[in-house]
Amino acid sequence: MTATTPNVLNIKEAIETRRSIRKYVQEPMNQDDLHEILRLASLAPSAWNAQTWRFAVVQDPAVKQQIQDAAYGQGQITNAPAVIVVYSDMEDTLQTVEETAHPGMGEQGREGQRKTFDGVFGGQDVAQRGQWGLSQANIAFGFMMLAARGLGYDTVPMLGFQPEKVREILGLPEHVQFAGLLPLGKRAEDGFPHHRHSVERITKFY
Ligand SMILES: Cc1cc2nc3c(=O)[nH]c(=O)nc-3n(C[C@H](O)[C@H](O)[C@H](O)COP(=O)(O)O)c2cc1C
Repeated sequence: MTATTPNVLNIKEAIETRRSIRKYVQEPMNQDDLHEILRLASLAPSAWNAQTWRFAVVQDPAVKQQIQDAAYGQGQITNAPAVIVVYSDMEDTLQTVEETAHPGMGEQGREGQRKTFDGVFGGQDVAQRGQWGLSQANIAFGFMMLAARGLGYDTVPMLGFQPEKVREILGLPEHVQFAGLLPLGKRAEDGFPHHRHSVERITKFY
């Protein structure tokens, strides 16, 4: 990898130094780093290895502007060199589900994967199974933020946008569901330090 960032953070450093960043250094995204962030996010786990997530990478300023308009004008979209749209496509997942069976399991695995998915999701409507698909894509969304930080980049996860408009801008089918938008680049502001519940406030030990 010809990364511009020689220092890869360990997972603790990546988690502790990630914070939402809405102003970025104005330079194009290194394409190798971008690809590596996408690859690392795609290593997220999912139930039955369904991998319902799909990514749309937006670097064209005109398209970023359109997405910003669909996101109530939130300036971090055009300010970031790249925006990754993370969404789930459960219908594509179902149509091609054999691809997600581990090759080590052979033809039997592929048939089993088809049977499982047809059995579990065949009786559900598109919205219901779409919700399940989204719960898987959210895992990749989280992985992506940490992968970016680990390679020295910053992000801000976003759900403040009109999904139907973003679908239209990107030419995505109506059934896809969004984990979120992820503006991506190098930080040009400090962001806010973490403000979180204590472990004791949110945890019961048994
Ligand atoms: C699912 C999700 C949606 C969010 N949507 C927005 C958004 O539309 N605009 C924005 O500026 N920040 C958005 N945020 C960022 C949160 O405000 C931020 O993560 C939170 O305040 C904690 O701050 P930190 O990320 O710096 O730790 C979103 C965060 C998440 C996880």
